[in-house]
Amino acid sequence: MKILIFSGSPRKNSNSQKVAETAFHFFKSRGIDVLLYDLSAHVLPIFNGEEETFAHPEVKHLQKIAEQADGFFFCTPEYHNGISGALKNALDFLNRSHFDQKPVSLTAISGGGKGGINALNNLRLVIRGVGGLVLPGQCVVDKTDLDDTGAVHEAVKERLASVTEELIHYTALLQKKQSTATD
Ligand SMILES: Cc1cc2nc3c(=O)[nH]c(=O)nc-3n(C[C@H](O)[C@H](O)[C@H](O)COP(=O)(O)O)c2cc1C
Repeated sequence: MKILIFSGSPRKNSNSQKVAETAFHFFKSRGIDVLLYDLSAHVLPIFNGEEETFAHPEVKHLQKIAEQADGFFFCTPEYHNGISGALKNALDFLNRSHFDQKPVSLTAISGGGKGGINALNNLRLVIRGVGGLVLPGQCVVDKTDLDDTGAVHEAVKERLASVTEELIHYTALLQKKQSTATD
């Protein structure tokens, strides 16, 4: 099973990246083949539908790792009541061929004390647009859920453990169903 984690903040040392790293360790501890894709490190061109953007090495890399993934875990910051522009732009380079019959788990990281619920609802809608199976569980993380060193508080770790387990569960179920269908 391959899980692809998106850290959806374009900012270096973002809170989204810290939460994504925590999720990464959960998957690793369960023996999962997991990759963390950080949008502050992988700078994509702006999607404009032109051939040269699809030929861009970062776009090809993104499409390849998305194609190889069996399940997705998104950590999105809440920016102006929605997901980051960087994450939406990345998703504009992907489509149903990357997400079809693959489960997707959502976590939002906010700064305003409301836990990123708008970003979660926004991302749920966008993932439906690319054909992913968005799971019912979701996790909200506020900036007060991280300490000064960026470590995530225990209560949040419990919520993250629950959503990562849900993703592992449904990814395994779908993989089993698909392998039975091709037997
Ligand atoms: C451009 C911008 C817009 C933001 N808008 C919101 C918002 O609407 N609601 C909120 O709770 N926090 C908002 N924040 C705070 C972020 O959600 C907060 O910094 C959080 O840590 C996630 O961002 P990060 O992963 O880039 O660190 C905003 C931050 C930025 C940079």
